[in-house]
Amino acid sequence: MKETRHLYTDLAWLWPVWGDAATEYAHYCEHITAMVRQYAKRPVNSLLDIGCGGGKNVLNLKRHFNVTGLDLSPTMLAQARELNPESTFVHGDMRTFRLNSTFDIVYLIREHEEKYSSGEDEYTMFACVKTVADS
Ligand SMILES: C[S@@+](CC[C@H](N)C(=O)[O-])C[C@H]1O[C@@H](n2cnc3c(N)ncnc32)[C@H](O)[C@@H]1O
Repeated sequence: MKETRHLYTDLAWLWPVWGDAATEYAHYCEHITAMVRQYAKRPVNSLLDIGCGGGKNVLNLKRHFNVTGLDLSPTMLAQARELNPESTFVHGDMRTFRLNSTFDIVYLIREHEEKYSSGEDEYTMFACVKTVADS
């Protein structure tokens, strides 16, 4: 956990140079969008990106959805805001956050699911997700 904090705070300045948001992340986001369009049983407008990091996925997903990003690292959030000045970003921990809105889609990358895949963390993370997932 200490290493993760180090990576997303002291070393966060490296993120912008690791992959161009508009090109390298675009294909992946198109895939996500296509899956949502294929499987959603109703129109999808709003999307919450949990662990949004520097907002590179937000940059691509916002073409299709009204995206809100949530992240634990203020440094990463600052990058996300710079890249997406018109989007909404929230500082929070995916295991404890509460928001006053719900979303048609909640997007959580597998990395987080693996990191918090045991015990209390996993339970509280999905309990938080449930509070914002429009059912
Ligand atoms: C691999 S990066 C995400 C990259 C991002 N999807 C993008 O498009 O650039 C992982 C992010 O998860 C965040 N994170 C890690 N643990 C978290 C937690 N408990 N709650 C919220 N965000 C967390 C980190 O701060 C980091 O920004």
